[in-house]
Amino acid sequence: MSNLEVRKFDWDFEGIPFVWNPEQPRFSVLMNQITFVIISFERYICKATVAARSRITDEEVATEARLFREQEAVHAVAHMKHARALIEQYPGLQSSLDKVRQAYDELYESHPLEYHLAYAGGLEAIFTPFFKMILDNRGILFGGGDSRLASMLLWHFCEEIEHRSSALMVYDHVLGSYWYRIRNTRRFQKHAGSLFDLIIDEFKAHVPDVPHEVYEGNPFASVPRAATRRSALGILRSQLPWHDPARQPLPDYYEEWLDRWTAGDDVTRLHGRLPMIPAEAR
Ligand SMILES: [Fe+2]
Ligand SMILES: [Fe+2]
Repeated sequence: MSNLEVRKFDWDFEGIPFVWNPEQPRFSVLMNQITFVIISFERYICKATVAARSRITDEEVATEARLFREQEAVHAVAHMKHARALIEQYPGLQSSLDKVRQAYDELYESHPLEYHLAYAGGLEAIFTPFFKMILDNRGILFGGGDSRLASMLLWHFCEEIEHRSSALMVYDHVLGSYWYRIRNTRRFQKHAGSLFDLIIDEFKAHVPDVPHEVYEGNPFASVPRAATRRSALGILRSQLPWHDPARQPLPDYYEEWLDRWTAGDDVTRLHGRLPMIPAEAR
């Protein structure tokens, strides 16, 4: 029985600053990079999961796949709202978004379904140790940030924790070859990594009022070294054959977020500071 829940919120990022957390400019930029890449990445996953439907013969896997796809589609819509708010201020960023979409469209056209499911399974497995580190250190990373985006990212990362087993479950059911997936892992990571690099260059070209220093350095420089080391180790382990996302250490915040959501709290303003809306956008 799948425990995934599709939650929809009315996000609004009008006028959000590019550096939405002045205390963490490089982390702010990384989250902006995530927005510009993940919209197309999640749509790519959705497309592959729909295409896999006819090859899923188990009812439980089919339900998990459907809910997983629905969660990812909702995430892409939320990040699109963030991207639109930035494009409104920096119109050149529309072409940046289009370039990433084109890269994923080309990837989809040039490889078989097995490749796409392996891509999704391999990268989604990385997310649990990576987002756990972010959620465990949310006070440092989000505390001084615009509460609208901080809260959206916390919700998204919690749902990534929630559906941490889904993509591998679909891959294992449809193909199940560890070696096929692992043989291509470097390629998946290179593809996604190159898009993150491309987006930095696009930001430099289209966001003229931000000093180039914000693109330099480690986004997690303020996070305790032990946490970043644990996360890096978890990412390496996530690609081992016996890795099971269901048995990974989870951030305590996942349960806390669920409790707040279940209690009916406004999870669109859970963390960070009041919205940083410039006067002209009010
Ligand atoms: Fe997602
Ligand atoms: Fe995901």
